[in-house]
Amino acid sequence: MTLRTIAPAREREFVIPRLNRLLKTALFLEDLYKRYHWQVSGPHFLPLHELFEQHMETLEAEIDAFGERIRALGGTPTWNPAEFAKQDIVPQPDESLEQDLAITREAFEMQATYADALREAAGAFDEEGHYASHDLVVEYLRQHEQQAWFLREYIRKVETSEYVRAVN
Ligand SMILES: [Fe+2]
Repeated sequence: MTLRTIAPAREREFVIPRLNRLLKTALFLEDLYKRYHWQVSGPHFLPLHELFEQHMETLEAEIDAFGERIRALGGTPTWNPAEFAKQDIVPQPDESLEQDLAITREAFEMQATYADALREAAGAFDEEGHYASHDLVVEYLRQHEQQAWFLREYIRKVETSEYVRAVN
């Protein structure tokens, strides 16, 4: 007996490549966040070291959720590091950064850019009536927007503090 597929072909064809594109960037960001977590230094080391770890945990859960959704739709999730190194959503990181404020500015840019891509995918899934995929992407869009907000607030606070006048 032939088993039917879980979602219509139209949904599989539309959603799988778009989710895989997001998954590649989420894998890339998870690795990059490890760098932020390890490499950050300066007076704000400890709270940022911990914040970056929290963001990494979100990415880890997100990667699993996107990979499983792709499988449920009958696709193959990206897993190969050589592939996710070629992600095309967020800009290339500056590997020389260590100072807490500089790393946070880059992390903010990464989060905001990735959130734009999630928002775009969520809109497209909604328009096409792919409700479960839309709901999944919106869940993580909300989390990345919140994380971008935390980073933005940190930058705004530090940029007006004595610390910036001292290091510049
Ligand atoms: Fe750690």
